[in-house]
Amino acid sequence: MFAGKKVLVGISGGIAAYKVAEVVSRLRKLNVEVHVAMTKSATEFITPLTLRSLSANPVYVDLFDEPKLWNVEHIALAEYVDAVVVAPATANIMAKMSTGLADDFLSTVLLATRAPIFLAPAMNHAMYHHPATQENLTRLRERGIKIIGPAVGFQACGTEGEGRMSEAAEIVERLDQFFSGSDCLKGKRALVTAGGTQEPLDPVRFLGNRSSGRMGYAIAQVLQESGAETILVSAPTDLPTPPGVTRVPVQTALEMYEAVLANFPKMDVVVKAAAVADYRPAALAEQKLKKDGTNRTIELVPNPDILAELGQQKTSQVLIGFAAETENLLANAQEKMLRKNVNLLVANDVTKPGAGFGSITNIVSFLFPDGRRIDFPQMSKLEVARNLVSEIANLLGRNKGVK
Ligand code: CTP
Repeated sequence: MFAGKKVLVGISGGIAAYKVAEVVSRLRKLNVEVHVAMTKSATEFITPLTLRSLSANPVYVDLFDEPKLWNVEHIALAEYVDAVVVAPATANIMAKMSTGLADDFLSTVLLATRAPIFLAPAMNHAMYHHPATQENLTRLRERGIKIIGPAVGFQACGTEGEGRMSEAAEIVERLDQFFSGSDCLKGKRALVTAGGTQEPLDPVRFLGNRSSGRMGYAIAQVLQESGAETILVSAPTDLPTPPGVTRVPVQTALEMYEAVLANFPKMDVVVKAAAVADYRPAALAEQKLKKDGTNRTIELVPNPDILAELGQQKTSQVLIGFAAETENLLANAQEKMLRKNVNLLVANDVTKPGAGFGSITNIVSFLFPDGRRIDFPQMSKLEVARNLVSEIANLLGRNKGVK
């Protein structure tokens, strides 16, 4: 549902800024709570007063202004809103976002927010096609930022080309679609596992792996944003818990096994993104192991395969597995999908640059037991998560629209 959402409209300095008045007014008609932040140069094209009147809220321009409301300053606003849309998005603001520059109110909010960001680029077509702008756009897309347009047509500079800001109706439609689709898992319960388990050897050492947890955290975030009540069973990571998600911290594969199995019967969806250690040391030394200069052998015993166990126990749950492979990706993944009885398997070759452990992007294929396969290009883990949640909604017979 779009009504009742809080949207920050960011305006940067381009001639298309005048069109944003219509964006604000259309959002208000849909009962969206609108806040506006403008760059200094945007105020040359349209006055803050116009936007204040249309949004019925104070307009933010200067980082060092007195807060307009007792609790609203840039960080509070960044955390408060459900989405940010920058229209028009100039080449300059996109370059700032791409490199993480924060030197005014709008760019600071854009760096601080964890809400989804939409950009409606608007600029002269030569500026739009400049490799610097295109590289920035690619980077922003890879981070999960959604780009609306630009359209092709007559430009204020008197030329024709690509770079016109999309029409207000289209911008609002995209936001509406995003939020309407975003309730598609309402009433559903989801559990995600993430991170690499740690198998202790002695009080100071463990056997671990290179998983950062990013993929699982992104999936938990999107499931939660899509309305599912979401539990994240997480091995140790440095990542913050996504807002609204319940985190159950675990360390070892056995602890993960217990936590997942205990919750499984109540779940509608389980996504096993964790890198689970297949083996653990047979014995846990009570004291730190001392070196004695000789070879040492550590006996390992197998851990339970959590996903395979879920595949056995599953009734109506949608079960998603991952396959991290370093060779024969599709053949190994296909075999894992059938052996573990999952509804969808996400296969990734962790040796590819831009994929797998530690990377912020991933290159994956979705495999289905009916033989269907979807191959995706390199994209941010958040975008992979959005595509996955869209498929989960399909598998649950819910409408999608999360992409
Ligand atoms: N998995 C699990 N429990 C384990 C091992 C793996 O639940 N003890 C899950 C992972 O979370 C992932 C899937 O099984 O969803 C595949 O993990 P992967 O490490 O790719 O495969 P393995 O089953 O461990 O097989 P192999 O090590 O032979 O590649």
